[in-house]
Amino acid sequence: MNPLIDLSLLLAEFDPRTGTIGDEPCVQRRLADLRGCFHDVQAYERALEQGNALVYSVASFQPADGPGDLHCGLGVLQPGLVGDEYFLTKGHLHTWREAAEIYIGLSGEGVMLLEDEATRGSRMLPLQANSIVYVPGHTAHRTINTGDQPLAYLGIYPAGAGHDYHAIAKQDFDSVVLRCDGHPRLRSRT
Ligand code: F6R
Ligand code: MN
Repeated sequence: MNPLIDLSLLLAEFDPRTGTIGDEPCVQRRLADLRGCFHDVQAYERALEQGNALVYSVASFQPADGPGDLHCGLGVLQPGLVGDEYFLTKGHLHTWREAAEIYIGLSGEGVMLLEDEATRGSRMLPLQANSIVYVPGHTAHRTINTGDQPLAYLGIYPAGAGHDYHAIAKQDFDSVVLRCDGHPRLRSRT
């Protein structure tokens, strides 16, 4: 396999309607998969009563699996709100905590919520077409669609990074991104 050739197929074969890249594996997350992620529990239950909407899909692309290789995920996060909180991804730390990641915005408008695992300090950084967000190691990260169109982005991370969702489920992000007067604002969860 030639990773260079395969990588160039990544965008060419991407189907924005289905969120898939040819036959590459694609994970879909619906509202029901995001229980516990939104700060307004009642608004979440009300939204779920309206239907189990598709929130995001991630097509992964793994040209090679050696320790120095890179994996990519092409995410498409739908626009929407649960109460005053924008549609978001589950969020995770990397199992290999030192592993950093580069996010490249492709289309739409959103932000990344980054939270240092040790200090719990939060940052909200813009993610949109042509913007790049560097996620350092030891940093919980979540993607949030603050616009009215699907937010598409590419995440590039070491093949051995792994995804630790358990740590987030045990201790959620300290901060939330809420829609206040039509704009995204970083707020403390409590
Ligand atoms: C990979 C990465 C992204 C996310 C994607 C979905 O390390 O950060 O590809 O996997 O944005 O978010 P999660 O994995 O939190 O559901
Ligand atoms: Mn990641």
